[in-house]
Amino acid sequence: MKKRILTGDRPTGNLHIGHYIGSLKNRVELQNSGEYESYIMIADAQALTDNFNNPQKVKENVFKVACDYLSVGIDPQKSNIFIQSQIAELAEFNFYFENLVTVSRLQRNPTVKTEIRQKNFGSSLPVGFFCYPISQSADILGINAHLVPVGEDQLPMIEQAREIAHDFNRIYNTNVFVQPEVLLPKDKFARRLTGLDGNEKMSKSLNNCIYLCDDEKTLHDKVFSMYTDPNHIRVEDKGKVEGNMVFLYLDVFGNDKQKIEQMKQDYQKGGLGDVTCKKYLFEVLNQILKPIREKYEYYYSHPEIVWDALKQGTQNAKKEYQKQCKILKSAMKLDYFD
Ligand code: TRP
Repeated sequence: MKKRILTGDRPTGNLHIGHYIGSLKNRVELQNSGEYESYIMIADAQALTDNFNNPQKVKENVFKVACDYLSVGIDPQKSNIFIQSQIAELAEFNFYFENLVTVSRLQRNPTVKTEIRQKNFGSSLPVGFFCYPISQSADILGINAHLVPVGEDQLPMIEQAREIAHDFNRIYNTNVFVQPEVLLPKDKFARRLTGLDGNEKMSKSLNNCIYLCDDEKTLHDKVFSMYTDPNHIRVEDKGKVEGNMVFLYLDVFGNDKQKIEQMKQDYQKGGLGDVTCKKYLFEVLNQILKPIREKYEYYYSHPEIVWDALKQGTQNAKKEYQKQCKILKSAMKLDYFD
């Protein structure tokens, strides 16, 4: 049997180059290797945990994220793209997994901690949001995924899923669940791409992203607004490469390593201006993003192709979750009428 991959994204906005380098590129390579059965979830139910009052936004973004997937080369003939809310079995997994996780364990989840801080929930933190690591474990274990290709910030979720799998198997004396493994990008900067402003990670809520579908002018403007070295004022000034977003992005996205090394040296010595570096970075990024942008426009204007792919993918995924749910319930002695 082929090993199974599951991964996904919350549909709260278009995907950006941080997603691309941190996960999407990997997914396409894994899909094309032909070695895996691949499932890609659009996690609309998870998106609702902090957007419950904005269902229209979530729905629109299900479509947009699907367009992003197809544009980067996820092929519905090879990968199943599916919509989380349409798999009712996930709620069942969640129901039973909630018994296996303590409140203090959830409180220690570093990603959720950071998100709670960033989103300023205060005393109105929804239970659903607080518990999403459990429902995400259901996403992963419910389809018996071996491999979860994600960015670094998702590591705590995979750890949570591994713990639940381990505890479930021990408590109910079974081997229903495989222990999923995480697959991180090889390049350490790609694992958590810093935002255009040099702040933490690239994130739509921080408004520091380059989106895959940004038009050429927007891409240009964003590159030219990037954080460099604030003390590098005149071309002949010595510049700093560390913490300079233009060089960080060149390291992550550029192929011509030799040229980039030379640019770094010239920049540090003085004599190489920010504008020249930014022009080059724009070319590098535009070369990657132009074909993606063109495909995006095509899919966006052919919604029937996109919804057909989602429908088929969702049907396929649902069958697998149903099978696994039956096995789970029988391990828990909930098979009264079978
Ligand atoms: N939490 C992920 C994100 O914010 C999305 C997600 C939901 C996911 N379910 C998943 C990722 C299962 C991997 C596996 O991007």
